[in-house]
Amino acid sequence: MQIFVTQDYGELSLRAAEVVAAQVRAKPASVLGLATGATPLGMYQELRRANNDVSYAQVTTFNLDEFVGLSAGHPGSYHHYMHLNFVRHVDIDPNNVHLPNGLASDLALECEMYEQSISQAGGIDLQVLGIGRNGHIGFNEPHGKFEAGTHVVKLDEASIDANLRFFASRAEVPQYAITIGIRTIMLAQRILLLASGADKAHIIAQAVRGPITPSVPASVLQLHRNVVVIVDRAANQQLTNSEGVQQCFTAYEL
Ligand code: PGA
Repeated sequence: MQIFVTQDYGELSLRAAEVVAAQVRAKPASVLGLATGATPLGMYQELRRANNDVSYAQVTTFNLDEFVGLSAGHPGSYHHYMHLNFVRHVDIDPNNVHLPNGLASDLALECEMYEQSISQAGGIDLQVLGIGRNGHIGFNEPHGKFEAGTHVVKLDEASIDANLRFFASRAEVPQYAITIGIRTIMLAQRILLLASGADKAHIIAQAVRGPITPSVPASVLQLHRNVVVIVDRAANQQLTNSEGVQQCFTAYEL
């Protein structure tokens, strides 16, 4: 794992966007695994800004997850988030943008087809991840199976709480989601894990330095051979002292 510590969220967003842009420049037909949530919002903003320099015309994307029961147009859906924050601003072909269909009548089949589509696209070149306060990546909640592919998951109370901000009331937050699995994530060529803010300090330290355990799903990333972790100073409080940590980002190379 390479760990980079940035001054603040703004720099984290810029550095994360640089990693994504470098990937696309090096391989214009990259397959990107994308995340939603608050953490990557700044990264998408930076990518929009840099769209004159980077073309997504040949890029294919697969998002980590989607709520079950929400239409693509629902303001709380991840389809909507991606459209709003990324897809409509860049030159990507909307046909190459994939998210699980939370309205599928056969959810098991939808999961199988999503997994197959990722394989048929050649697998994920770069997977962007945030981390939940409970250690989840995608919606792989604590105590799930590391060997899982794309599947339907019942959301943790902690995840429902975390998503409250996107809905009018707790009753409206979906209870289930489709998520790609830990196995799918671990098959990505490269992983970019982002954590910002003091409320992520404890869990990111557990994920990166603690025991590898399904009770902290992100801890499995310690077993992946190509992970870049970017944290801001607030999230770094329990992760590293500055010794041995690459504070400067110029060392990053694809
Ligand atoms: P957040 O979510 O970026 O909104 O904190 C991260 C996650 O749940 O993976």
